[in-house]
Amino acid sequence: MIRLDKPLNILNVVGARPNFVKIAPLMREYRKHPDRISATLLHTGQHYDDEMSGIFFSQLQIPEQSIYLGVGSGSHANQTARIMMAFEEALLNNLPDLVVVVGDVNSTLACTLVAVKLNIRVAHVEAGLRSFDRTMPEEINRIVTDSLADFLFTSSIDANANLLREGIPESKIFFVGNTMIDSLLAAKPALDASKIKQRLSINGQAFGYVTLHRPSNVDDRKTLSGICDALYEIQKHVALVWPLHPRTRKMLETHGLLELLKSYENLRLTDPLSYFDSLSLIASSALVLTDSGGVQEETTVFGVPCLTLRKTTERPITVLEGTNEVIGSESYFIVEKTLSLLARKRKKAGIPKYWDGKTAERIVNILLEKLSRNSPPAMART
Ligand code: UD1
Repeated sequence: MIRLDKPLNILNVVGARPNFVKIAPLMREYRKHPDRISATLLHTGQHYDDEMSGIFFSQLQIPEQSIYLGVGSGSHANQTARIMMAFEEALLNNLPDLVVVVGDVNSTLACTLVAVKLNIRVAHVEAGLRSFDRTMPEEINRIVTDSLADFLFTSSIDANANLLREGIPESKIFFVGNTMIDSLLAAKPALDASKIKQRLSINGQAFGYVTLHRPSNVDDRKTLSGICDALYEIQKHVALVWPLHPRTRKMLETHGLLELLKSYENLRLTDPLSYFDSLSLIASSALVLTDSGGVQEETTVFGVPCLTLRKTTERPITVLEGTNEVIGSESYFIVEKTLSLLARKRKKAGIPKYWDGKTAERIVNILLEKLSRNSPPAMART
């Protein structure tokens, strides 16, 4: 039973780079209710390099995690299993009233599974997104997490429809908006101070921004080499900046493509960038080529044209209302679409409902209301 005389004990899970951006506004919001909420941050260590993790904590002003599991990389089964084992131990040491998970990474799935088996409630932030492509590991993580969580916080209304179609009771679903956009709007004033364009010698110049890391694009040699060929053609027309995700760098090396890319005159390859540098480049780019979920949302808010190199998107709202176009990964098509986009005027696009910087506030208000109303104890759930 949740005791009303004690603050709600909320354990917040992060594991990989996009999670940090999604959790930061919640951690800030909890601090506004010190008498009602006691929040802890747990980092599974799925991402561990400073450039993939540490710098995000400082720029997003997330308090140092209180619990670090240090699980690192591995195959899906191996990584998920190690997160589950370490998380179970952590939960048994600190039985919270609620576990909050975000996004769709292996940590999201693993920690949900462990928490529900210990009869601890779970809230999933960014619930209900579906690409309908079960070859994506993230899609499996989304489906399982949503089927188990008690609170499903959605970022767009199509996600509500997906959840209802899967038989999830309406009473568990809350359309609240996008915490990633809370972070973006909070970061906006800091972006002017970024020196990344000077560092890359593209200040005042039109450029395209590239981010790719999905296994479907980078693991297979033929696909990756086709994408590199497309970038070769495109950089003849516009400068390109491509920060390499560790997975992508490794695959470029494995497939013997990295040295070739380095020879492209108008392509700047960099290490993974900080949150502010990355946002600053997105905001001022002529267009973005990506396979990231978060970047599709960020370009929509900045009104920057985005070409998504995938067959599907779990974020159709960015196509329907925003600047995104899903074009697949065929080499010739990437070149054709990019060049025609550069030649035409920018499409006028809108910003989806509730992508307004107040999502974390909505989530915390709902949690306080629902969990303080003598709701039945977790053990009594069926
Ligand atoms: C993970 C998420 C993906 C998310 C992405 C954001 C899953 C299934 N995938 O993909 O949804 O969009 O993060 O970045 O959870 N590596 C490093 N340093 C790090 C982190 C990873 O070198 O700090 C290496 C690992 O050794 C591994 C590779 O990068 O070989 C990929 O890492 P992994 O955690 O498997 O998944 P991502 O591709 O990053």
